Amino acid sequence: VVLNKAHPAQEATATHYAQGGIAVVVPGTDDSVAAHVADTLAAGGGLCDPDAVSSIVADGYRAVAALVADGARFDAAAPNGWALTREGGHSRRRIIHAGGDATGAEVQRALDRAAATLDVRGNQLAVQVLHDAAVTGVQVLTGDGLGVIEAPAVILATGGLGQLYPATTNPAVATGGGIALALSAGVPVADMEFIQFHPTMLFDGPARRGGARRALVTEAIRGEGAILVDARGDSVTAGVHPMGDLAPRDVVAAAIDARLKATGDPCVFLDARGIDGFEHRFPTVTAACRAVGVDPVRQPIPVVPGAHYSCGGVVTDVYGQTALPGLFAAGEVARTGMHGANRLASNSLLEGLVVGDRAGRAAAGHARAAGA
Ligand code: SIN
Repeated sequence: VVLNKAHPAQEATATHYAQGGIAVVVPGTDDSVAAHVADTLAAGGGLCDPDAVSSIVADGYRAVAALVADGARFDAAAPNGWALTREGGHSRRRIIHAGGDATGAEVQRALDRAAATLDVRGNQLAVQVLHDAAVTGVQVLTGDGLGVIEAPAVILATGGLGQLYPATTNPAVATGGGIALALSAGVPVADMEFIQFHPTMLFDGPARRGGARRALVTEAIRGEGAILVDARGDSVTAGVHPMGDLAPRDVVAAAIDARLKATGDPCVFLDARGIDGFEHRFPTVTAACRAVGVDPVRQPIPVVPGAHYSCGGVVTDVYGQTALPGLFAAGEVARTGMHGANRLASNSLLEGLVVGDRAGRAAAGHARAAGA
């Protein structure tokens, strides 16, 4: 049984809106698990769990191949193999993508297809994880009132909490519900202070409380050569970090924030006019810009940092197991130790695929052992 507090046909997940891609070490390239682990640890500011990072990164290619077996299709490059791009903090081109900048939509499509045999219920809000020494089920609020679903294993997959902030790239469902469920069941959470601000959220006016999701302007655009400048045309990141505009995300977001405070400007600009075939490579960003009257082919894109990702969450091991037997968590709601103080770009879909798969198997094993 999959409980969705939104109506599945009306409200998309954060996964759906992911643009840049999935960071994965593709065999046969100049990349290595050791290099991806090193980049992840560096971006995480010394606060990642290195064993968790190694375990998840090393399993990435298998998890992506499993999604491909479920029907996912990623953009290809000649002569064969996937097209690889770069994002902030990565020392190699290792980001695979789909539909140009619509990677999350393709991942979600494949997952929805694979989940078609499950009992997916919309408009159902999980309000409590029920348990004694182990999980016994969940209490659910529906249009008919409160009910109980008995279950020996429960997986929290509720995503993040960006909607707690006035300006966010997260959809309306990202309200931190899984964190509340875990805490009220006495299950530890950690690293909640590490909220990641994406450097380049489309600027379309001042922040407003309770606002709708704002459009992301993927970091992959900088990976393909776009530059960040202020209203005077001066570089925002010059002298800030050796990787410049492709420094880790927290560094670039802080540089933009400092520039906005120094100048009093409402936004900075991402100049992508030098990228050939921009519309084809980044159709989602092109459409979002044009919807607010900006043509990214001819004009610099106005951007500001926006609340994007909760690096912390419900404490789990790399199989999604929490401190409460039978309660698992996977994806943004979980804190495996992968991200430390700052998640490396495109490591989120990677972690979701790897740990989601493992948590599903572990939950099924737990349920079997409990005699269900
Ligand atoms: C992006 O495309 O810039 C976002 C990817 C991510 O959040 O890792």
